Amino acid sequence: MTDELLRWRKEFPILEKTVYLISHSLGAMPRATYDRLQAYAEAWATRGVRAWAEGWWEMPLTVGDEIAPIIGAPPNTVAMHQNVSICQSLILSCFEPQAKRNKVVYSELNFPSVMYVYEAHARDGRFRIETVKSDDGITVPLERMLAAIDEETLLVPISHVLFKSAFLQDARAITERAHEVGALVVLDTYQSAGAVPFSVEEMDVDFATGGSVKWLCGGPGAGYLYVHPRWQTKLEPKVTGWMAHEAPFAFESGAIRYAPNIARFLHGSPSTPAIYAAQSGYRIINEIGVERIRAKSVRQTSLLIELMEEAGFRVTSPRDPARRGGTITVAVEHAAAVTKELLRREFIVDYRPGAGVRISPHFYTKDEELELVTREMRQIINTRAYAEHEATTAAF
Ligand SMILES: Cc1ncc(COP(=O)(O)O)c(C=O)c1O
Repeated sequence: MTDELLRWRKEFPILEKTVYLISHSLGAMPRATYDRLQAYAEAWATRGVRAWAEGWWEMPLTVGDEIAPIIGAPPNTVAMHQNVSICQSLILSCFEPQAKRNKVVYSELNFPSVMYVYEAHARDGRFRIETVKSDDGITVPLERMLAAIDEETLLVPISHVLFKSAFLQDARAITERAHEVGALVVLDTYQSAGAVPFSVEEMDVDFATGGSVKWLCGGPGAGYLYVHPRWQTKLEPKVTGWMAHEAPFAFESGAIRYAPNIARFLHGSPSTPAIYAAQSGYRIINEIGVERIRAKSVRQTSLLIELMEEAGFRVTSPRDPARRGGTITVAVEHAAAVTKELLRREFIVDYRPGAGVRISPHFYTKDEELELVTREMRQIINTRAYAEHEATTAAF
């Protein structure tokens, strides 16, 4: 069988030298990123301040429109920001908790930085957080999540795919329940966008946020925020800046007059170079199409489970492909040290406490690389080659 997606390999320099299986953390850099950063420098060098009027100012929204098809959003609903943590703060700043509506519900397997934002705001007692427990550290029971969402719930900020185990949550069911009781859903699509096809519009979530570092191959500094059109003229973020003003160049003093559209969810000056850089990744993902990426991912993650189990390893990520994203997690003893030795041998993977070694094929991965990483892991363990890294803990 020929794997048509392998033709993209030549567009990713790092694939020439490594077995690169870490798209859940930092996707490989497209060769075109060099050109995008050159284009940014060229505009600055030759057009100077005029570059703002020639595209830079609009980029947080025009580039948001390049992400929109990847997350199934209509045009004019996505704004670029630096990262997910900022987007969560911005969303939270739109709401005033009331005595009878002040609860935030999420699972204990939420991405920690997201929890840090809500926990910090809950410190003064205005918000209450209900943390839904996981029995196995891998999955979140849907029934338990649904039961926690009640009439006092204001926001449900959840991950679509969990960073640690790749468990894919039923965002549609959670959103239905939230809306039934008048709560709003903030879906973190960082680990699903570019790996799993979905539509924020169809799922009817209120907000979605993610970044470009992982499956989108876009690098750091290019986070995104989707806001459902029904909220775009109603909410008034307190985390704000002049780009959210209806007439920023009027330089009005006093309180902000919000733009009557997605622009009101902007902030101050954008991370222009990061946005330029990230476009190379979006263009490739859009050209291939997330459906094709997913079809290959399901095939390769299933193959990887088989290979790992044949080699005697225990796979901890969900077995049902419909309930997992693009990553396979493998529980091995001395996982941090084994990972360090894999990295030394140019097998690029990582390790998370409680889940094990995380391995992610992407559209550019060869089947043979999955065999190689399995064999290498087995060899490292059999020969105790990990022993010299025993003091290692998780990083990056
Ligand atoms: C699910 C999820 N959310 C958020 C983040 C990162 O958040 P931020 O963009 O604030 O660094 C990650 C990255 O590791 C993640 O996996």
